[in-house]
Amino acid sequence: MAEMLDLDADVLDDHHRELIAWAASLVPDHPRIIDLGAGSGTGALALARHLPDAEVTAVDLDEDLLAHLRHRATEAGVADRVRTVRADLDGAWPDLGPADLVWASASMHHMADVDRTLAQVRDTLRPGGAFMITELDSFPRFLTDPAGVALEDRCHAELDRLRREAGMHMGLDWGARLTSAGFTLDGERRFDLELRPPLPAKARRYAQVTMQRMRHRLEDTLSADDLAALDTLAATANDRDDLVVRATRMVWVGRR
Ligand SMILES: C[S@@+](CC[C@H](N)C(=O)[O-])C[C@H]1O[C@@H](n2cnc3c(N)ncnc32)[C@H](O)[C@@H]1O
Repeated sequence: MAEMLDLDADVLDDHHRELIAWAASLVPDHPRIIDLGAGSGTGALALARHLPDAEVTAVDLDEDLLAHLRHRATEAGVADRVRTVRADLDGAWPDLGPADLVWASASMHHMADVDRTLAQVRDTLRPGGAFMITELDSFPRFLTDPAGVALEDRCHAELDRLRREAGMHMGLDWGARLTSAGFTLDGERRFDLELRPPLPAKARRYAQVTMQRMRHRLEDTLSADDLAALDTLAATANDRDDLVVRATRMVWVGRR
């Protein structure tokens, strides 16, 4: 999981840099920033590096991911300004505020009660503070040949079904949710990202890790042929020169 999250930011680095610059433009000097569902820390660490006077609190449920994040913060020389907090954001929140920016990348769809989480974020922000939500439609797509596209379609349909069954909030209109939660909508953008072949080694590795993760998630639902096809793709991704990376990201900014 940590490798896949790290690769996502690394492979889509131009896009990631653009989002970090956008977030940085929203905050005052010496900002206090909270990364909700920080995962491996790609957001928290990039924000700390981009804003040398920022203090960043990275919150996540998963202690292994937070340990990885602390290790990377030390390597990046920002450990004195990045603290981690292990918390279940569906439960009672620890005292995280006051914050100038709350950053939530691919984490809001995990929240059990999104209106409750939006209200908690609002309470945690200083007046005028910004809440930047990034969401995605699914895993990226990598294949262009007709059989590969059809396989990815089947995988994505199954993943969508499993996410719906698990109660995840994919495809929500976060702009409308922010407004009903009392935020002023300050920005909304859709990014259709595409990297063309030949891909660099890190992007081929990203394809491989994604295929492996999809296979793991779909082990009980895909046909034996589709599982075997995913195995083959994962095993050969590094040698292929026809892979692409296609991903869609939506970003909303709400102001308290
Ligand atoms: C898809 S990952 C995104 C990680 C990171 N924000 C990024 O963009 O790479 C979602 C993260 O949300 C965390 N998460 C999910 N539900 C959570 C909860 N109830 N409380 C805290 N963290 C949660 C997961 O542990 C995971 O690290």
